[in-house]
Amino acid sequence: MSDLRTLGFHHITLVASDARKSLAFYHEVLGLKLVKQTVNFDDPSSYHLYFGDETGAPGTIVTFFEWPTAPRGRYGVGGVHHLAFSVPTYEALLKWKRRLQDRGMPVTGPMPRGYFASLYFRDPDGQVLEIATAGPGYAIDEPIEALGRAVMAQKPSQLAGTRNDAEIAATTHPEPVPSITPEMVLTGLHHVSGMTDDIERASDFYEQALGLRIVKKTINQDDPETPHWLWANYDGTRVLPASGWTLFGWSPKHPRARGGIGQTHHVAFRARDGEEQLAWRDHLLSMDLDVSPVLDRQYFRSIYFSAPDGQLLEIATDGPGFSVDEPIAALGGSLQLPDWLEPDRAAIEGELGPLR
Ligand SMILES: [Fe+2]
Ligand SMILES: [Fe+2]
Repeated sequence: MSDLRTLGFHHITLVASDARKSLAFYHEVLGLKLVKQTVNFDDPSSYHLYFGDETGAPGTIVTFFEWPTAPRGRYGVGGVHHLAFSVPTYEALLKWKRRLQDRGMPVTGPMPRGYFASLYFRDPDGQVLEIATAGPGYAIDEPIEALGRAVMAQKPSQLAGTRNDAEIAATTHPEPVPSITPEMVLTGLHHVSGMTDDIERASDFYEQALGLRIVKKTINQDDPETPHWLWANYDGTRVLPASGWTLFGWSPKHPRARGGIGQTHHVAFRARDGEEQLAWRDHLLSMDLDVSPVLDRQYFRSIYFSAPDGQLLEIATDGPGFSVDEPIAALGGSLQLPDWLEPDRAAIEGELGPLR
């Protein structure tokens, strides 16, 4: 058994139909910062946009491949259902609901999930998004030193069929929220949720491959007959933020995920540095996984592999980070190309078209 344990998410990458629409939504509506505009290094004719906090810290990053001609994606077994951003308070959650609804967006929630409260909505391409409160956390029904040992029941007031959906729908912030207040700032990935057709196998895999630990075994509150488990960087005393990976257990009869627009392309977890990444690579190879060579992504180095249910995963180094080719104050302000693509800049810019 390896003693490697990822700190949590590095980034998550989605497929988008239109980089301008993604910029308008994730920056202007959700308030994330565009920390890098570049191209897909494997396909330099398409934009690759990175959003995150002020510096693009690991655990805050959401990235987009702009592939306008890709087929429409669909969530399913081996794919991601949604990603959740974190806010500190319930008050902030209600403000987000009011802000999004006032823009004409359908919003579900605030759903009482027990461990947190949540809103659900979709981005312009249909990717399901969630905003969740940071607390009260996973120790409300089990001691913090013994999380995930037994299956936790949930209250009828939280479950589909018995919860008060009319009251939930009517709950919102009383005043319009035209701008994002400081407490509303999305502070990073709260959790990411996918679907698997074998939750026991997935549990063994994520514990072994990434050093995550089971934190909660419970039921899908929207489909109480099926399991919902959560893993994280958890050491018996605390659950690290931006590390919660959850899976809904679906029967193998359910459709498999189909990649494409409005779907997650892959989920990246953190390695501290290049040396640790090589240890990860050896470790994953020792599990008989197919692992890519280390690839230079300019802002980090990456290796790729797949979970048994098909989910594409990456381990990315924390460094060198987004200030490697432009100063922090100018992040995202202009198209950045790696040295090997700089000679083709004019042609690439011509094909991409302006972002703003
Ligand atoms: Fe969620
Ligand atoms: Fe990635």
